Amino acid sequence: MVVDNDFYMQLALNEAWKYQGLTYPNPAVGCCIIGSNGEILAIEAHHRAGEPHAEVNALKSAYYKLTHDKYILALQDSAEIQSHLLSNHNNVFKNTKLYTTLEPCSHYGQTPSCASLISELGIKEIYIGSYDINKKAANGSMILSKNGVTVFSEVLQKKCDALLYPFVKTLHSQFVFFKWAQRVNGTVDGGTISSKTSRKQVHAMRDRCDLLVIGGGTVRQDRPTLDARLVNGVAPDILIYSRSKEFDREIPLFNVKGRNVYIEDNLQKVKEYKNIMIEGGNDMYKLTRNSVDYYLCYIAPKFGGKQIIEFDTDKFEFLNVDKESEDIITWMKRK
Ligand SMILES: NC(=O)c1ccc[n+]([C@@H]2O[C@H](COP(=O)([O-])OP(=O)(O)OC[C@H]3O[C@@H](n4cnc5c(N)ncnc54)[C@H](OP(=O)(O)O)[C@@H]3O)[C@@H](O)[C@H]2O)c1
Repeated sequence: MVVDNDFYMQLALNEAWKYQGLTYPNPAVGCCIIGSNGEILAIEAHHRAGEPHAEVNALKSAYYKLTHDKYILALQDSAEIQSHLLSNHNNVFKNTKLYTTLEPCSHYGQTPSCASLISELGIKEIYIGSYDINKKAANGSMILSKNGVTVFSEVLQKKCDALLYPFVKTLHSQFVFFKWAQRVNGTVDGGTISSKTSRKQVHAMRDRCDLLVIGGGTVRQDRPTLDARLVNGVAPDILIYSRSKEFDREIPLFNVKGRNVYIEDNLQKVKEYKNIMIEGGNDMYKLTRNSVDYYLCYIAPKFGGKQIIEFDTDKFEFLNVDKESEDIITWMKRK
């Protein structure tokens, strides 16, 4: 039984990690719904701030699977999905179980409360990973219990807390992650490495970032733009880490409208921002290692290049490995 609960929570975790870095200022959250015969009805995640929470996405998918009511598939707005579910559920969720990596929210923010929705739909049991430390949204468990839902807390809590950590960090100070792409032979130089899908994901992360940190050598050598054009997103501010203020201002990154570009020989600027991505190779990896919370690596199934990233592998633990994409995508942290 315990194994099953961990298994279903892990499915929710795997889905949520696919959107880590994309949900800021909201947390990455995953949700899985299981039917009365143990069948998986939905595995969903929160995709982006302002869009439906993971629970709403999962309830929508599960509802469709149970009823074949196509009308709900066209609904994107959380309030509309919730309203359709509440008017049409006919107790189809009566014997279902819901697994969520984060305690369902209790407040009516940009969307109505997930805790009330789950209660009103008559879900039998709910399994929760992390407690919500965001005061505005906390106490969802209490609402659920009061309304007759059996609540099981702290399921795979350590793993769920690791998923939630970037959000917690941005609430208190700032979250810094170091992203790089490498080939299977460990090289990081020599032009485009990762797939178009991965690059689009990185552009979506740039759109969500306040600040992007890049090394002076890369700016001179690659002459990058460092915007979010692949997703029509907003380009982040740039911090060029360099001992020299001398850069050719024709380099495209200097000519993106609406952004600030700083050139500094230290990382103090990071403290003025909340969600910070460092894009670097081997030198930046070494220079920034005391300032980084999480590492994100895209491993492309290719050979080539010359410069290898000298990664001290024994000092790292994997938080998530996504093998479903064209590149292997891993989130890691220092032990
Ligand atoms: N695959 C990837 O994801 C990826 C990402 C980025 C870069 N790259 C590639 O990887 C290679 C190396 O890039 P990298 O990011 O490791 O290094 P980099 O861009 O060369 O950045 C290191 C820079 O840090 C600055 N620096 C060194 N010591 C410093 C200090 N004490 N104080 C302030 N600044 C200092 C230097 O800038 P100054 O020389 O201006 O002083 C140096 O160029 C390049 O070929 C690049 O194209 C790959």
